Amino acid sequence: MITVALTKGRLFKDFLKYMNGNGLTVYNEALEEETRSLYTVVDNVKFIFAKGPDVPTYVESGVADLGIVGSDIITEETFNILNVSQLPFGECHFSVAALPDQQEFKVIATKYMNIAQTHFKNKRQDVSLIHLNGSVELAPLLGLSDGIVDIVQTGSTLRDNGLVEHEEIMEVHARLIANKRTFYTKEDEIYSFIKEIGVIE
Ligand code: PRP
Repeated sequence: MITVALTKGRLFKDFLKYMNGNGLTVYNEALEEETRSLYTVVDNVKFIFAKGPDVPTYVESGVADLGIVGSDIITEETFNILNVSQLPFGECHFSVAALPDQQEFKVIATKYMNIAQTHFKNKRQDVSLIHLNGSVELAPLLGLSDGIVDIVQTGSTLRDNGLVEHEEIMEVHARLIANKRTFYTKEDEIYSFIKEIGVIE
């Protein structure tokens, strides 16, 4: 048995769409079931549903062997995991966004303090950061900050709040991550799972 940590939400929907679109439907029936259960077992694979930032924690500790997670999460925080490969879904990017006429960026609100800090440090821009846990688009609208550093996927959250992208920072993709020990001790089961989800041929 192997355990795979998934994150419910947008990345999970992208994963199901990718599998359906590529005829890789072996796990989809179980994964698409509407339930509040936090795990499901299909044959030899136990899927657990965690919050995105917790997926690498489960994988690092070894209670999950594999994880599917956005590259934003493993860029923001360092984990002792194997970063196995990029996956062909979950594309989005980080941007600095603000009201259209914003000229100066002295105060930035973000969920991603490390990514934002590295970006402004590399640009030698003196910016103070405010940490928020979500809905960061509110901050420039209410005057809490001059702008935000956040993920943009469809762009509709920015549009619906009258904000625009001022600068693109980095691309984000889904990634397959693995526990450093069980990737080798459970090699056969892991190999057949990643083959089933189309990561290798
Ligand atoms: C993310 C991100 C943006 C939004 C961007 O938030 O922080 O708010 O998605 O997506 P879009 O470009 O397709 O509109 P999420 O929905 O994860 O919730 P959060 O605001 O609570 O972080």
